[in-house]
Amino acid sequence: MKSLIFVPLLASKAFAWGVAGHEITATIAEILLTDKTRDQLCEILPPWTKCHLAPVAAWADKIKSDPWWRSWTSPMHYVNPIGDWPSQHCVYGEDGWHMPEKNLFTAINNYTRIVPNAVGEEQDFALRFLIHYIGDLHQPLHLTGRERGGNGIKVRFERRITSLHGVWDGGLITKAVREIANYTRPVPEKRIERALRGAIYDPYVRFIAKEGLLGWWKDEYSSWAHCPTDSASWLLTASEDANPQLRFNRPSSGLPVSTRSLADDPLLPACPNHWGQALHALNCEIIFPPQLDTPNPHKSSWIEKVLDKTVGFVFNPRPDYPELNTPEYAGRIRNEKLVEKLLAMGGVRLAAVLNDLFDPQADGKARELTW
Ligand SMILES: *[C@@H]1O[C@H](CO)[C@@H](O)[C@H](O)[C@H]1NC(C)=O
Ligand SMILES: *[C@@H]1O[C@H](CO)[C@@H](O)[C@H](O)[C@H]1NC(C)=O
Repeated sequence: MKSLIFVPLLASKAFAWGVAGHEITATIAEILLTDKTRDQLCEILPPWTKCHLAPVAAWADKIKSDPWWRSWTSPMHYVNPIGDWPSQHCVYGEDGWHMPEKNLFTAINNYTRIVPNAVGEEQDFALRFLIHYIGDLHQPLHLTGRERGGNGIKVRFERRITSLHGVWDGGLITKAVREIANYTRPVPEKRIERALRGAIYDPYVRFIAKEGLLGWWKDEYSSWAHCPTDSASWLLTASEDANPQLRFNRPSSGLPVSTRSLADDPLLPACPNHWGQALHALNCEIIFPPQLDTPNPHKSSWIEKVLDKTVGFVFNPRPDYPELNTPEYAGRIRNEKLVEKLLAMGGVRLAAVLNDLFDPQADGKARELTW
């Protein structure tokens, strides 16, 4: 009987937190690549990927276990607006940003510039970073600094103790993948099947591609990849809700250099700052449930902290962490298809950026799917 205890541990390792989300985003992007883009990426990716993007999509997290990689790459996974505290108030750069020189936006811009120009291993690594960070942008908790993007907020999900960040990195996706009962067989669309690799989430990708890209969002998804054409517009859109006067009073040239470094570059096909705004707003709209703001009477004991650090969760769940697998929270997210939409948006934008870099005739748009 003893070995049974370890089953959940092994299971969670095989389907590690965060990995599936990144791989699904990359798989959706691959469906939308033009043939020319795909052929060129195939030359850059290592042979063991068999020309797929998904196998390298979580690499940028894996290397964080190595102190050298971690030391210079860890700030690239997120961006922290100063003064932001969802759900009480959402602030998106109006008061500046923590770590303006190196963050998720500068990383996406940096690797969008490097990927088409580098060679050899440098190009391979830059591509892996770009695939990963466009994925991170679509996990909205990477856009707020409140308790390290929700990593420090203990909650329960399907009774297990995890963090708010963990729920969005893995819990909601794992549940959706587990519960989908249809799309277990190949669909007629060759583009979809060609991007799949026999992964546990294949039915979920078919579901998102067929019912989402070809259904719910078929008229809007190509606009997701749109970027504003003038360099100052990111500032206008970021500020107009909070203070319409900013539109006129704060031209971007008057901004401190530290804030300008986060601005989108109109010469690049990616605009993480512009795309991030609506994603960030989700933290106030839905992601941080208000019950997290009532003081939690339970403080972790030292043994719980050790267990949490070593095995990732505590065996004896306390009743006072809020359960998020409820109709009001997880049920609403499922009904709004929010997780599926975030994964699809990440995929569409990644494909659009790669098509623009490697097959400019695609005109910055993920190609309309021909079925
Ligand atoms: C840009 O990428 C290079 C190559 O990986 C890296 O050395 C540098 O730190 C990056 N800069 C920023 C601001 O992310
Ligand atoms: C497939 O299953 C999902 C729920 O998991 C459902 O929303 C959808 O309508 C189903 N599609 C078909 C074609 O049966």
